[in-house]
Amino acid sequence: MQIIRDIAMLHRAVTALKADGKAVALVPTMGALHDGHLSLVRMGKRVADHVVVSIFVNPTQFGPNEDFAAYPRDEARDAALLAQEGVSLLWAPDVATMYPAGHGTHVEVAELGADYCGAARPGHFDGVATVVAKLFNQVRPDIAIFGEKDWQQLAIIRRMARDLDFGLDILGAPIARDADGLALSSRNAYLSPEQRAAATAFPAALKAAAAAIAGGADVAQSLAAAEAAILAGGFDSIDYVALADAASLERLPAFRAPARLLAAARIGKTRLIDNHPVG
Ligand code: PAF
Repeated sequence: MQIIRDIAMLHRAVTALKADGKAVALVPTMGALHDGHLSLVRMGKRVADHVVVSIFVNPTQFGPNEDFAAYPRDEARDAALLAQEGVSLLWAPDVATMYPAGHGTHVEVAELGADYCGAARPGHFDGVATVVAKLFNQVRPDIAIFGEKDWQQLAIIRRMARDLDFGLDILGAPIARDADGLALSSRNAYLSPEQRAAATAFPAALKAAAAAIAGGADVAQSLAAAEAAILAGGFDSIDYVALADAASLERLPAFRAPARLLAAARIGKTRLIDNHPVG
């Protein structure tokens, strides 16, 4: 596996990978890889000839009081995992390469980024869309793969790829979960053993609410019951639990397919997100 940090070298290496019409899939990550990321890599191996993974902890998608400095980083471990998976190229730029002095252009996400995580984290999705647009231009993949755990992010990136004519396929990969249901996340590493045990209340509450809503229960009551169960399970606060149209992300006061339950909640200093299909 090649590890590349320079844009001109990246262009040469990707051009070589694409020789003879070979397809390249990009898996953008911020590192601290877990089985969820590796499931994206494995999907990439199924749908393309080569997989390129990027690791870049993107400062512009973190708010001033968020965990940019504390975000777990272990490139050597991540690179070993990716090499084992048969990844062709690891793109690992530093901040000065990604945002050279005077960098002053960004992507602004309109209505899809206003609610949910966008409301709780102002500017977050502009930072995500900007760095993903740059990664698309740098790597020029045929396919890009993102996890469904960040459902709002996936919807925003699909819309951006369409609106800005990136001309590549965006694939979503199913959420990878631990045996007790908790969605895999690099931020799970922040949880104490007690918090980790309590965190199972989060997916359990979403699963129960999704089943209730699909079975005809009142949406507002089901969402309120899910919030109560998450707090009773040991979470400190809830950013949102909402029923949304799966594509437009519009809030749904009553169930209609395709719908998705979207949620974010905080336990101690850790903010977890999750989502669940309904019906
Ligand atoms: O989902 C992530 O890890 C990040 O938001 C992404 C897509 C790599 C952009 O920094």
